[in-house]
Amino acid sequence: MYLASAPLISLAFALSALAAPDLGRLKRPLELVVLQDCEGTCDILTLRDAQHVRGLPPRGVHTGRLPTQSGQERISFVSYDEHTLWRAAQSQCGTLDTAALIPDDTSQASQQSVLTSPQLKYSTNLVGKAPPMQVHRLIKSGDSSNRVDLVFFSDGYTDGEHAKFLEDAKRLAEDVSYNQTFNTVKPLLNFWAAFTPSKESGVGVGGKPKDTVFGLYRDGTELRGVLYSKPEVARAACLSLGDACDYPILMGNDPLSGGLGGEFTVITPSLANGPLVLRHELGHSIIDVGEEYDGGYAYFGVNAAANLSTVPWAHWLTPSPTTDAAPAAAHSERAAMPLQAYAWTLLNTSAPWTARFAAAGTYARHLVRFSLSGVPAAADLRVALDGADLAWEPRPGIGRDRWHYDVYRAGGLAQGAHEVEFALVNAAREGDAQMCSVEVLEFGDEHEFNATPGHYSMYPTFSLENTTTYRPTNEDCLMRQVTTADFCSACTEGLWTALLRRVDPIDALTARCTPGAAPGTVDLAAELRLVPLAAAHADSATTKEQEAAIEGEEAAIEGEAAAGASYTVAWTQDGAALPRFANATRLAVRGVRADAVFAVDVAFATDEVRVDRDGLLASHRDMALAELCAL
Ligand SMILES: *[C@@H]1O[C@H](CO)[C@@H](O)[C@H](O)[C@H]1NC(C)=O
Ligand SMILES: *[C@@H]1O[C@H](CO)[C@@H](O)[C@H](O)[C@H]1NC(C)=O
Ligand SMILES: *[C@@H]1O[C@H](CO)[C@@H](O)[C@H](O)[C@H]1NC(C)=O
Ligand SMILES: *[C@@H]1O[C@H](CO)[C@@H](O)[C@H](O)[C@H]1NC(C)=O
Ligand SMILES: *[C@@H]1O[C@H](CO)[C@@H](O)[C@H](O)[C@H]1NC(C)=O
Repeated sequence: MYLASAPLISLAFALSALAAPDLGRLKRPLELVVLQDCEGTCDILTLRDAQHVRGLPPRGVHTGRLPTQSGQERISFVSYDEHTLWRAAQSQCGTLDTAALIPDDTSQASQQSVLTSPQLKYSTNLVGKAPPMQVHRLIKSGDSSNRVDLVFFSDGYTDGEHAKFLEDAKRLAEDVSYNQTFNTVKPLLNFWAAFTPSKESGVGVGGKPKDTVFGLYRDGTELRGVLYSKPEVARAACLSLGDACDYPILMGNDPLSGGLGGEFTVITPSLANGPLVLRHELGHSIIDVGEEYDGGYAYFGVNAAANLSTVPWAHWLTPSPTTDAAPAAAHSERAAMPLQAYAWTLLNTSAPWTARFAAAGTYARHLVRFSLSGVPAAADLRVALDGADLAWEPRPGIGRDRWHYDVYRAGGLAQGAHEVEFALVNAAREGDAQMCSVEVLEFGDEHEFNATPGHYSMYPTFSLENTTTYRPTNEDCLMRQVTTADFCSACTEGLWTALLRRVDPIDALTARCTPGAAPGTVDLAAELRLVPLAAAHADSATTKEQEAAIEGEEAAIEGEAAAGASYTVAWTQDGAALPRFANATRLAVRGVRADAVFAVDVAFATDEVRVDRDGLLASHRDMALAELCAL
């Protein structure tokens, strides 16, 4: 029922087209999802009929991996060929116990989903574990079978907090998609909020979950991770929504920072940190990239290079101002990290927390970067480097929540030993004040280290083990600087291609064939519905003869067309271009041969994608009249 909601089509056309078959639908592959533990043993979670994976060859396998909280891996295998699918899973898992798979003919009827009917081919015992949910639509751009769907699930919201859950979810969905982060790709996304009341309000502390839907809890009382204790309920909840749940987000009802990435994105609706954690964790899971900040352990994907000779973002490198060409050999910006500590330590007034480090004495500038929680006032804490007060001030309004601070200092650190110090002054904050992390970075002068935003080069990133990889920009990306709202161009391009692997630019192609005036001929009316990523123009044909050949008005695709984005639409008849329908989303021709083959090619372009290796920005459909008119 695509056309029922299309605003631009005249009613008469819509009614006639409703009866027409949709030639735009892509074949659905099978998806097998397993959980693999560290010994290699796999448990099957589901085998189901899934949303298309574009660019996947008939016997190819698309594999997606996400870590779980308990150190397992959730692996999804997708293939159009069932035999290939099982072979791929067996080579990963060894023998697979399929006893858990129950051929399922009841699931369709028993599903509570109001979205799309899930397409379980077989159910596992997970299906019965899904909690009852009330699913609300937050932002809907299209049918879930051709969109990437993000779902907020409620945890620690009681019956009386249903409205609060919806407000929290709506605020977060809008924050990450209104004017930043996921804004340009929003037409590819749907956001939902699935409410299940919890018996108790809030998230557990001290390693003890409360009586809530997914049992979210913190390890201690301090602000750090938020973990879940009922993964099987969360899995069942997401699976029961079928196509409408690609990325499950478990939201714990707590005003302070916390979160986790992986199989489930766990967040809190913290005003300061909720959007920040959500954006960053979705970056990991959707784009499939590692960290960009220092002190992580996983650096991979479109934003990470292991060395200077292989640069995934070569096509984004800033041309040199003198030669106007991308640098022939990438060079590293000059920086060093003499100190890093993820201390997560509670502060007290008896003794300051200190860390010593050695500097080489060869750099021009330095930065002290740290994060704190539980210190609402500047007078509560003194932060010093070599005894000099850094004049730290909390982010206004942060209260007890966690926040990140950067103190840039001109001048180099002298060669030799140095010390940072975090001294709690206000004893009333003991038990809550926490030094989460601290890092000292040193930089060369402006010729050796280009800190300009928008400059693409090779910036060294230092892991937990102090090994060096490279990232594209200094501080442009939220995968490095979590307080930033946007991705860098390399990640944004990766985001487009990751999403367009699951979303076809063609939402629907409907066609109607009627007998023509002359015997043996037919009249054809076709209508293309594109995902509104850009404006597609009406047919420009205006001559009398052309008008005679065209029925009805030409439809244009409208939407929140992003600057620098366009659609090109080309129709052909038996391989020959039909220039009068260039860029039109409707085709209407009369008196054509009943065995003609029409086709349409759609090419999306955006400034945000420079290299499209798998041709995911383009799409093609054939319309063979011999088949179509026989329908
Ligand atoms: C987006 O809107 C929010 C809230 O209106 C505002 O705080 C933020 O600065 C805006 N971001 C951009 C990039 O305009
Ligand atoms: C650079 O890293 C890539 C992988 O990122 C690797 O394939 C290549 O062999 C490395 N080159 C050198 C010279 O180490
Ligand atoms: C990391 O290694 C570099 C170069 O070997 C060294 O200068 C720096 O002090 C090390 N940093 C840490 C935190 O160990
Ligand atoms: C106070 O904090 C310091 C620095 O973290 C620590 O070494 C010390 O054990 C703490 N003292 C108490 C009484 O907790
Ligand atoms: C079709 O649209 C594309 C993108 O806006 C444009 O570049 C092209 O010139 C258009 N073609 C015609 C024939 O108008």
